Amino acid sequence: MSIILSLETSCDESAAALVSNDKGKIDLLANEIASQIDEHSNWGGVVPEIASRRHLENLPFLIEEVFAKSKLQIKDIDAVAATVTPGLAGSLLVGSITARTLANLHQIPFLGIHHLEGHLSSIYLSGNHPKPPFLVLLVSGGHTELIKVDVKHKYQRLGRSHDDAAGEAFDKVARLLGLSYPGGPEIQKIAKSGDPKKFLFPKGRVSKPEGGFYPYDFSFSGLKTAVFRQIEKIRSENKKLPIEDIAASFEYIVAEVLVERSFKCALDQGLNSLVLVGGVAANVRLREMMLAKASKNSIDITLAPMEFCTDNAAMIGAAALLRLSTEGFKSSMELGVSARWPLEKSDLLYDPIPPF
Ligand code: KG4
Ligand code: ZN
Repeated sequence: MSIILSLETSCDESAAALVSNDKGKIDLLANEIASQIDEHSNWGGVVPEIASRRHLENLPFLIEEVFAKSKLQIKDIDAVAATVTPGLAGSLLVGSITARTLANLHQIPFLGIHHLEGHLSSIYLSGNHPKPPFLVLLVSGGHTELIKVDVKHKYQRLGRSHDDAAGEAFDKVARLLGLSYPGGPEIQKIAKSGDPKKFLFPKGRVSKPEGGFYPYDFSFSGLKTAVFRQIEKIRSENKKLPIEDIAASFEYIVAEVLVERSFKCALDQGLNSLVLVGGVAANVRLREMMLAKASKNSIDITLAPMEFCTDNAAMIGAAALLRLSTEGFKSSMELGVSARWPLEKSDLLYDPIPPF
């Protein structure tokens, strides 16, 4: 059995967790999050400088808390993990330096984790998880990607957004509607009482230079502009803004595009297993539409557990356990952080000569 202390500080959530694995099963021993959302919402989005400072203040208490709650001590830990890419560099540094310092002091391995591999590993925190091959739809504030997983840790990106990520579109449209940050949960809340078919917003497509469209790619910036124009039009007519209907129509079209393109991709690739992870995976309409489409096609669907969709350290711990236990991987103490790094190259995070 291994026990890992994991840290997540890539954006606006400071988080620590203790996870263990026993005969292939991952157990969550303690999981703490200090959200900075309230502070960032005053600015309408994440302020990187504030984020790093808050991580620095929060982490020591979060680490103390997971040990207190699990009744474990640092001597019981087999490794320390932290997100090292992608994310806000200053924020990533806080988690990474904390993890490396603890690992060095206690002479235990350090594992640098790719944040997207973390999101993907959130499915291992539930009892029921699929075995590769499967297709993952990863939808968060920074990413919208369709990733084929042939065998564990071998990734191939088949689709992506060419502009805004799905979560970013939720956040921007929420701002247009006068809702607070993060926009996803706010839009979901008011969309419940709106008509999802009231406004027909466009499903963004990405043209190929040679003609036609990329079948598995996404574009959300045109959708955001269409919502903006609709709002302007209604305002210019001095009518009351039907924000519930706009929110519902926007949420519906985003969910429909995500469902349509991921199922097309899965069917084209001959994959009968589809996995949904990331912050936007918490969206109830998207979850319901995924399940409904899956029952019409013979595709198994795995939804990330609701509590592990948005950023957390439990998913980082799950990713670290899989790396440590199946491959015996650990990172160099000289591994730094990077704002961007392709998921396909995440194996290099365990290279004796680190890539960054
Ligand atoms: O995965 P995450 O916590 O952070 C990143 O790695 O980006 O995702 C945050 C994003 C935000 O854009 C937020 O608006 C969106 O996930 N989100 C949602 C919901 N909950 C969070 N979007 C739609 N519906 C939700 N219920
Ligand atoms: Zn994330």
